[in-house]
Parts: sequence; structure tokens; C-alpha cells
Amino acid sequence: MITFTGTDIGHSADLLRKNELVAIPTETVYGLAGNAYSPTAVKKIFETKNRPVFNPLIVHIADVSALNEVAVNIPSIALELGNRFWPGPLTMILPKSDKIEDIVTAGLPNVAVRIPNHPITLELLKNLSFPLAAPSANPFGYISPTEPLHVQNQLNGKIPYILDGGKCESGIESTVVGFDGDSIVIYRSGVIGKEELLEIVKTVRYHTCDNSEPQSPGMLRSHYSPNTPLYLTVNVDEAVSHFNPLEIGVITFSKSIEVIPAQHQFTLSPEGDLRQVARRLYSTLHLLDQMKLKAIVAERMPDIGIGISINDRLERASVNSEKFKPNNQICCK
Ligand code: TXA
Ligand code: MG
Repeated sequence: MITFTGTDIGHSADLLRKNELVAIPTETVYGLAGNAYSPTAVKKIFETKNRPVFNPLIVHIADVSALNEVAVNIPSIALELGNRFWPGPLTMILPKSDKIEDIVTAGLPNVAVRIPNHPITLELLKNLSFPLAAPSANPFGYISPTEPLHVQNQLNGKIPYILDGGKCESGIESTVVGFDGDSIVIYRSGVIGKEELLEIVKTVRYHTCDNSEPQSPGMLRSHYSPNTPLYLTVNVDEAVSHFNPLEIGVITFSKSIEVIPAQHQFTLSPEGDLRQVARRLYSTLHLLDQMKLKAIVAERMPDIGIGISINDRLERASVNSEKFKPNNQICCK
């Protein structure tokens, strides 16, 4: 199969109607999309990504009116959140309707839903009579793609089409939340922070490893990882001193490191803007990984706002931050 990249929404819709997969742009990362109502298409998503079948998918809808088609018993608080954050990087876990097959939710009674905020994908969704199941368009465990080239490099020959919507605006994944009475449970931290959720609801807590609750595989211990070993640190100068500076890549927040060659060094936001860091994070990891260096040393970002989610991704990408990773598969937060 040859993988083409282009901006043809009509062609993308035709392929999706034939149960083919199309990589789609969203404001967070590129998704690997298929007809959410077709087990054939959904099975292809799992196979193409090499994704374990216990890992459920997010269903993308065009507008709130489609919510009743995919979910039932929707709490009013979910509608409030939808009004505030959709289209946008918030994924809500809700009881699934009968239209959503078990393969989409990995057998769970709940479905994850969001309205993505990207004009091209919204237009595509409006052209279709079904929602799109779409995980991030990377092979399982690898760094999520934030531009068409990343998808091309990772899934070349495996899908027919990449719908080009340019570079993703936010650069890290959506925040995944569930509901527990009046409070919100964060299953995966993401673009929307706890503080923003607290503007709408009184109680927001992070999901913990309590076996009475369904696990969210976004919490897999090792995830979002480059092939090059990544070391996360609060003291870049110290970490760098353990290596030959010519053989490593370095990612810092706002300051550069003198001994590292400029082409191996990425200061993600000299202005100290964490949103800019999020936007550049994955593309920098893709670039550094391609350089086939001995190691990547990454600076831990300030733990505020979206910095919390950036650190979450860096922790999961890293080989050294065991203190953040219990020795089971799920990371408790
Ligand atoms: O930003 C995003 O969310 C991107 C774009 C393409 O929308 N999608 C994405 O999908 O990151 P994926 O499959 O890489 O991550 C989906 C996350 C996983 O952590 C998964 O475990 C969780 O959502 N999830 C999906 N359905 C769930 C469910 N029923 N219960 C609990 N967690 C669920
Ligand atoms: Mg993913």
C-alpha cells in the first residue's frame, strides 16, 4: 500500500466509508481514524498500531448532538464540561450506547468521547454518518505524531491516506476524565489542567490504582517513548556531565547548556512559555530520536498548569525516573 498525504476531505471520507483508515489532524496530536461503528475498521486500528486489545479507543464526534448516539445516562456535569471545553482537548468517559461495540471500549461499559478542535477534521466528521474512533497515530508505545511527516515515518505503507492539517496546535494529548458523583476523576493528564476543570466543578482528583475502578491504559508505565534512552532530570548540567557532550541530545525549558553542540540542543521556550514547550515537545523528541544519539537528557519542566502533563509524558518516556513509576504496569498519580 502506498501512503499518500494531502488535504482532500472528500477522499478521506470515501476511504473511511470503505472501512479504510485515515490519519487525521486534531489540535492535540494526529489520530489514526476509522469508522467507530464498524468492528472491521476498529480491528484495523488495533492491528495497524500494534495496540493491545485491552486498550480502549476515543470516539470523535462532530457536535454535542451526536453525544446521545454514542453515550447514555449522561450526567449534567458532563454537558457543562462539554459546553465549556468542546470542541477541544477534553475526553469524557461516559456509559456507552449499544451503537458502540465492545471492541472500541475494550469490553468496558464506558466509552471515551471528544469533539476535536481542528477545522479540517470537524469538516470531515460533518461529512460522515458515523463517528471516528481514533487513537494517536503512532505505533503503540512510541511518541505521538504532531505533524504529517511523523505519521508518514511511522505508518508508511500501512494506511492509504494522511489528511494534512499542518502542525498540531497544542502538541500533547487531550485530558481524559471520568465522573464519580459530583466529582471529576482525571484518568490522563493533558492539555486542560486541573485548575481549569476546577472552574466548573468543586472536586477534581487524579485516578489512583484502586482496583475497584477501571484502569486507563493511558497510564501505562512506559509510553510515549523514543528509542534513544531518555534521562529526565532537574539538574541538566549534572546529568550532562555523565556523558560525552558530543554524543547526546539535550532538551531544556528556557536556558541553553554551553557544552552541547547547538544542533543537538533544544531549548523549548526561551520565553518560559509552557504551552510552547507542549507544542514543540514531541516534534523535538522525534527529531532527536532520528539522530541516533547515545542518550537524550531532558529537563523536568515547572510543575504548573500544562507543565504537569508535560512532565507526565517525560516521566513515561524516560528510563530513569523510577520514583515516578511503581513496579507494576500502571502509574499511580
Ligand atoms: O488527544 C487525544 O486524546 C488523541 C487525539 C487523536 O484525539 N487521542 C489519543 O488517543 O491520545 P489514545 O488512544 O492514544 O489515548 C486514549 C486514552 C488512553 O489513555 C485510553 O486508555 C483512554 O483514553 N481511554 C479510552 N477509553 C477509555 C475508557 N472507556 N475508560 C478509560 N480510559 C479510556
Ligand atoms: Mg496514544
